[in-house]
Amino acid sequence: MCGITGYIGVEESASILASGLKNLEYRGYDSAGVALVGDQINVHKQEGTIDGLTIPNETSATHGIGHTRWSTHGEPTDENAHPHTDCSGDIAVVHNGIISNYDELKRQLGGHIFESETDTEVIPHLLEEEMATGADLRAAVMRVLDRLEGSFAVAATHVDYEGIVAARQDSPLVIGHGEDGMYLGSDVTAFVEYTRQVSYLEDGDVAHLYSDGITVFNEGERVEREIQTVDWDASAAGKAGHDHYMHKEIHEQPNALRQAISGRIDELAGNASLDIDLDDRFLQAIDEIHIVACGTSYHAGLYAKELLEELVDITVRVDLASEYEVCDGHDTRRTLVVAVTQSGETADTLSAIRRAKAPGMTTLAVTNTVGSTITREVDDSLFIKAGPEIGVAATKTFVSQVTALALFATYLGRLRGTLTAGEGVDILGNIRQLPNAVQSVLDSESRIRRLADQYTGSDAFFFIGRGPAYPVALESALKLKEISYAHAEGFAAGELKHGPLALVTENTPVLAFLNQSASPEETLNNVKEVESRGAPVICLSTPGETASFCNHTIEIPDIGRLEPLVANVALQLFAYHVAHEMGRPIDKPRNLAKSVTVE
Ligand code: F6R
Repeated sequence: MCGITGYIGVEESASILASGLKNLEYRGYDSAGVALVGDQINVHKQEGTIDGLTIPNETSATHGIGHTRWSTHGEPTDENAHPHTDCSGDIAVVHNGIISNYDELKRQLGGHIFESETDTEVIPHLLEEEMATGADLRAAVMRVLDRLEGSFAVAATHVDYEGIVAARQDSPLVIGHGEDGMYLGSDVTAFVEYTRQVSYLEDGDVAHLYSDGITVFNEGERVEREIQTVDWDASAAGKAGHDHYMHKEIHEQPNALRQAISGRIDELAGNASLDIDLDDRFLQAIDEIHIVACGTSYHAGLYAKELLEELVDITVRVDLASEYEVCDGHDTRRTLVVAVTQSGETADTLSAIRRAKAPGMTTLAVTNTVGSTITREVDDSLFIKAGPEIGVAATKTFVSQVTALALFATYLGRLRGTLTAGEGVDILGNIRQLPNAVQSVLDSESRIRRLADQYTGSDAFFFIGRGPAYPVALESALKLKEISYAHAEGFAAGELKHGPLALVTENTPVLAFLNQSASPEETLNNVKEVESRGAPVICLSTPGETASFCNHTIEIPDIGRLEPLVANVALQLFAYHVAHEMGRPIDKPRNLAKSVTVE
């Protein structure tokens, strides 16, 4: 996820772009840059945050575009920073999203010299070729869009073209209609201090921004986009109108999932197509996978174990990274060690990876952070592409980790012949359904908030589940305890009667996952056990599966093995609203930090 900003008008472009980038910094802070357009295009960009970037006040610049980057293709470096230009330097482009066919496009652009490792850089070069045939910038953008695959929001300028051309496909772009000019942003926060009159571009739109207006085209036809007034307070910039980053990040999950999946599903082959370099012969030969991780990422690892053992039929061991030891005599040549870590910086996980590497084991990181320490030490990395997560409590990175690992399990299953193409199509179908399934849970937030309000102040909260819902029960309890400080525990549903049942009273709500993929009837028996001790029960189940002894039911779409992952989103919202009701500092819980770099 990156941030795009743009301005054309009578005011000084440089300072407007700089403030837009500052407001969008939560979308990524690996690098920042602007292109100022006057008699020539001057690009100022560098690795690091906007605070480190000096943008000269070029009074001759009539307009410009800017970008704050969260790296996906290519490490955070000056060269990979946006804007990117063509060979002549007459065209400048910023981009948010992923061009999944950029490799192929690069090959088609023989003779062009590329200076970065980004997928974005193909765009100015493609525009250069189109404009060499006589097309103006807008026509060139329209033609180039037909050749791009993936999700993107793009803004482009040319030194001899009056205006900014912006296009959207699956990544957001908003236009600000100011009295002194037209603004462009990945979201309203980019320019809300200058104007609250906005219009939202739709997928397939190509917009031409002039200093006093805009024209929008879709499939070659002129279209109008309604101008609306937003009632956002400029001081909410950075949280995009949400009270907390955590809330924003919970709501970003459908999009985060789309990014995690984009370009990675080969429907015809019933296979995942993963951007990793581990040798297929090695992956065919391994007989064990060790997953090492901490906290929420450990729970993602436990979920992955369920998927890997079912789809790949391989032995999987999941260790808390701080507890990981390799036994003498273990066949290290036939083991893959997977570090699951959103930050890529967790010291315990790094140290486990070093312990795995010492006797020669092959290592893979599943992470959100390009260029992080762990990605530099492992043999290969699978990026989860969730976008920046600022709230300390991990939310969207958890669902994206599990999704990336589900794709990995599918790939391994197909490679090792434990999954047929038809079975591959089936699991990939579930993965594809995830964004919409998560959205349907987000749409029921007001009901979940009412439940949270009703049970805030309870003595304790217990979460129970089986199969893949067991790690989700652990994760839901962790989320609630870390942000609300309430006592919360997750249990395997069958374990309750072996001890924890002694804690259950009429003031300890039990949240039970009745996922279809793991003996829901048996979990229902466990629900009856707590219900008969007077505990209120909140069930998470597929429509139609509601049991009469659940006091409340939150309906979860039935998407097979991934149903508990969707149910997890409902309980993120539950945790958030309990903590909100208790007035906790949700984004920065006491004693915790986003990235734990000490052992
Ligand atoms: C909880 C949380 C932590 C992290 C853990 C590992 O919400 O975020 O439990 O999951 O510190 O962090 P990463 O994934 O960065 O290795």
